[in-house]
Amino acid sequence: MGLDDASSPVSCLGGVGHYITLSCNSAIVAFESAERPKMKREGLMQRTQFYVTLWLILGGAPVLILGGIAGKMANADAQVATAGTKQQGDHDVGIFEPGPLAQPKSPQQAGVSADNTRVTIPSDNPQTPPKIALGQKLFFERRLSADETVACSSCHDPKKAFTDGRPVSIGIKGRVGQRNAPTILNALYNKTQFWDGRVRTLEDQAAQPIVNSSEMGQPSLDKAVARIASIAEYDQAFRDIFGRSPNGPDLLRAIASYERTQISFDSPFDSPFDYFVAGDANAIDVSAKRGWELFNTRGRCNKCHALTEEVRDATNFTDNDFHNIGIGIIRHNVVALARQAKQIINSEDAASVDRAAIQTDMSALGRFLVTKNESDTASFKTPNLRNILVTGPYFHDGSQLTLWDVVDHYNKGAGLQNPYLDGDIQPLALTEGDIDDLVAFLASLTSPDYKDQGVIELARQRELARTNRPQRDTARAFGPKSARPTPPSP
Ligand code: HEC
Ligand code: HEC
Repeated sequence: MGLDDASSPVSCLGGVGHYITLSCNSAIVAFESAERPKMKREGLMQRTQFYVTLWLILGGAPVLILGGIAGKMANADAQVATAGTKQQGDHDVGIFEPGPLAQPKSPQQAGVSADNTRVTIPSDNPQTPPKIALGQKLFFERRLSADETVACSSCHDPKKAFTDGRPVSIGIKGRVGQRNAPTILNALYNKTQFWDGRVRTLEDQAAQPIVNSSEMGQPSLDKAVARIASIAEYDQAFRDIFGRSPNGPDLLRAIASYERTQISFDSPFDSPFDYFVAGDANAIDVSAKRGWELFNTRGRCNKCHALTEEVRDATNFTDNDFHNIGIGIIRHNVVALARQAKQIINSEDAASVDRAAIQTDMSALGRFLVTKNESDTASFKTPNLRNILVTGPYFHDGSQLTLWDVVDHYNKGAGLQNPYLDGDIQPLALTEGDIDDLVAFLASLTSPDYKDQGVIELARQRELARTNRPQRDTARAFGPKSARPTPPSP
């Protein structure tokens, strides 16, 4: 990989889809970024300076500039070394102290202009370095939870690409939830948050886990605020940053500000795939290239994992919409659950939906909990696919262990038909070679930060898939599209 040998104007003018909008300035940055992999971890200070320089080259607005973090970054390794002394339970060492992977990222995007990132920032919550730093502290703060054992980072661990690596999350007192923890990386681009999109903003999102009794377990947001306000250092930080004492909305603002720095693209061009799209034909291997082709053609993935089918969309790999693709449908009687939900869930009340989604079987209803539209039964948000290799297990319920299982699921047209199944889910007749190619493409979406981890994970999944392919159903994959059953009458 590397742009050294890629012909220069390509990244300036060429490419497809969103890349056409890349300016020549970005191309300059792209060239500088070719040096990035060599910088590695020992050069954290250097790296911060690099971003600052980069930003100056671009002449971007100062709102996102991450000044003041250089010292912090230099300290990061030392912090990791001392992490984990106070934690309880079986959580990984280090999740309560932000290590190198937790640091705010450059606002520069692969194929997304800085403007696109800027529009994700609400006018009442501008990004400032002190606020981001406060948000980061809070994100790793276990004192935010009722028994002071669980932080946001317990389930969104930077070392696991801001997930927890579990099928479903575990909160205070070992309480097991119903859903798989999505990554925080690129969550700023989500049009809605959560698998069912029950809230829109990162601010509104952050309020939910704090008070969910299976997650951080606070009786109210105010209780959490009171605990934070009792810590002098926090009290002062809130006053300095917001000009008033700690309160719920400001606490959520700080956390959201930090999350908005978690862009997976840790360089102007992020994953090997981004280099490929920008014009470096050798950045990914032939198998991954065939996979990208399949993704947009016979594999039908672009029906949902793209903003449009007209041009190839290589940004966030989502249509920002909701679909029933047949996950979890076999294990649940969704009709009975829907009846129950209609009676007891107040969809207007985010906390009520949150409890149902995290703590009850009604979780399987997905988007229906929010809209109460029958057609949304068991529909879930199309997730971004960046870093998918390192954010398993997969789907909203963490039910699939490998990317081979995911593709097998799609290949057979989701298996059991259900009345709410999306029309775009149908048998794909993908061969074993095709499946390997799609997996290779998905693996090429891994950020440099997770490159080494990705290599190990791919080998692990490949080994597992060699002997265990629970979703594979070749006869169905090469069979006809079956008729969709009609929904049962209410
Ligand atoms: C006990 C584990 C746990 C804790 C603690 C936790 N989360 Fe999550 N998080 C999850 C799970 C599970 C989901 C998905 C839930 C759903 O969709 O219904 C989620 C979803 C999210 C999302 C939505 C991402 C997307 O793609 O839709 C964001 C953002 C997020 N969490 C941030 C936070 C923040 C900020 C905190 C701390 C205030 C936090 N989480 C605490 C488990 C956790
Ligand atoms: C009809 C829309 C649709 C199509 C077509 C589609 N997807 Fe998805 N995809 C989704 C939705 C919705 C989810 C989340 C579903 C859930 O968890 O219940 C998802 C989830 C995934 C996940 C797991 C993400 C995670 O974070 O756990 C992967 C990987 C994935 N899709 C890859 C693909 C590939 C590869 C193809 C083509 C072979 C494809 N998708 C086709 C809508 C679609």
